[in-house]
Amino acid sequence: MAVREIITYGDPVLKKKASKITVFDASVKELFDDLLDTMYSANGVGLAANQIGVTKMALVIDTGTFENPRVLRLANPVVASSSREKAVFEEGCLSFPGLTEKIERPSVITVKAQDENGEELMIEASGLEAVALQHEIDHLNGVVFIYRMSPVKRMLHNKELKEIKKLGKNKK
Ligand code: NI
Repeated sequence: MAVREIITYGDPVLKKKASKITVFDASVKELFDDLLDTMYSANGVGLAANQIGVTKMALVIDTGTFENPRVLRLANPVVASSSREKAVFEEGCLSFPGLTEKIERPSVITVKAQDENGEELMIEASGLEAVALQHEIDHLNGVVFIYRMSPVKRMLHNKELKEIKKLGKNKK
């Protein structure tokens, strides 16, 4: 288990589509452990593998509380269905430190995925869990949340985006 470095906006790995996990061995469990350790250390509710530089279809979320965690470790997740009804949430992203914006997404979704042993699962999610799942599945497809904003809203964050990009470059 290890806390890994979180990759920030500007790094091309965030635009890459992750590849499917086909072999469910110890390295997959280790990847999930690292994702959770990294997410908790950054106080996030979700993290996708490409945010730590691994382009594999793995994500973790925990939308519970400290006393009542609700952890999902999902491999190869896809949104199988989504409600016509939408909800707006103020979203943030660990790859965009300091930036938040209201994003509209379907309010209820079902997700088809596999657990860390390769067993298939179907999850119905609503509320924050549905938001977090859609946000992280987007990451695995190379889509970051600023592309879910209207162009006008994205433009309003131009200055912050430039600063986040600079931050990433200075780390290297
Ligand atoms: Ni994110």
